[in-house]
Amino acid sequence: MSLRALIVERIRDRGPLTTAEFMDLALYHPTLGYYTRAPQRTGRAGDFYTSVDVGPQFGALLAIQIDEMHRLLASAGSLVFDLVEVGAGNGQLARDLLDTAEATYPELYAVTRLTLVETSAAARAVQPNTLGRHWARLASSATTMPDRVSGAILANELLDALPTHAVSMTSDGLREIYIDLAGDRLVERTGPPSSPALADYLARLDVDLAAGWRGEINLAAVEWVRTAARRLERGFIILIDYGHTAEELYSQGHGTGTLTSFHRHLIGTVGDDPHQPDGPAWLSHPGERDITAHVDLTSVRAAAEAEGLEVLGLLDQSYFLLGLGALDDPGIGAANADALKQRLALKTLLVPGGLGSTHKVLLLGKQVGVPPLRGCSFRTRVT
Ligand SMILES: C[S@@+](CC[C@H](N)C(=O)[O-])C[C@H]1O[C@@H](n2cnc3c(N)ncnc32)[C@H](O)[C@@H]1O
Repeated sequence: MSLRALIVERIRDRGPLTTAEFMDLALYHPTLGYYTRAPQRTGRAGDFYTSVDVGPQFGALLAIQIDEMHRLLASAGSLVFDLVEVGAGNGQLARDLLDTAEATYPELYAVTRLTLVETSAAARAVQPNTLGRHWARLASSATTMPDRVSGAILANELLDALPTHAVSMTSDGLREIYIDLAGDRLVERTGPPSSPALADYLARLDVDLAAGWRGEINLAAVEWVRTAARRLERGFIILIDYGHTAEELYSQGHGTGTLTSFHRHLIGTVGDDPHQPDGPAWLSHPGERDITAHVDLTSVRAAAEAEGLEVLGLLDQSYFLLGLGALDDPGIGAANADALKQRLALKTLLVPGGLGSTHKVLLLGKQVGVPPLRGCSFRTRVT
């Protein structure tokens, strides 16, 4: 049975799905989900690019930040360094990080205990191949985070891939957007909120959605941060995601919401023609395309602070990478093919309007005080 047929049957049996339930099936159904079925979904042959696909530069720059974090913990007596990457995919970012650590930060490399957390079994299966000789540094590859972490938890483009609720404001108050059937077509339909948690979430933020606006409420992202914060005994969390402050996210500028789908590098949004034969683009071909929504960094940050974590930085990816010395490499000026490739990769990571400003970095610390971090040394600004 196709995933679409399964979703149609589920709606016929049990009624409309919340967008979170739809996304959970479309992306993570145990056998038919988009991420479940393939070891890699990103890059040129996939549907969209992450910073990791641009080249090894992203991991190499992150290694500088991780090394600083390791030194801060080591100077306070830590002998091992847990590096826990969540949503690790095929292990490429860990590989890039460890390549740099091995070559440049041998003390970090020697004490690193790597854990790759990834729900997709297909992605986990190719991690040994990606990690190569670094496999020896791997403590585990699992579907859930370890119970106790002393070191750093890292997640690149995880929270924006978690199933999210979608809501709209009407003159009758807050409504939730459900996925229902019109004949055989998957369509959006509004109904009463599936949980009081949705209205509570907006009330906590003190944001007012105007009538006619829609938005996403990612309860799973907030829950994930709570869990990560609790499991971190001591150290840091680095979160990198498509995101905005709540003030920006729940504003007229994003009044049509941010649910977006990617298929072969073509973008579909909720603004697409909802009357096309297969319904709105993000609903069409479930299991064949990525679905994502921008992250509410204000709520993620508040959840971490409520668990006793300190916010050490919240900034655009460009500023973070510039703080880490993205433009300091002496090779960058050299006139050879490698240097040109490197320059182009850095441009892609840094350029405003691209990954550099759509992606934000949230740096959190627990039991480490409030050290100034190198990634925040250029400028700490969210645009
Ligand atoms: C957008 S991809 C990003 C992959 C990689 N981090 C990168 O930047 O290229 C999101 C990944 O997170 C994984 N994922 C989703 N929910 C997860 C969870 N709760 N725990 C661990 N991995 C998860 C997905 O299977 C997918 O591989």
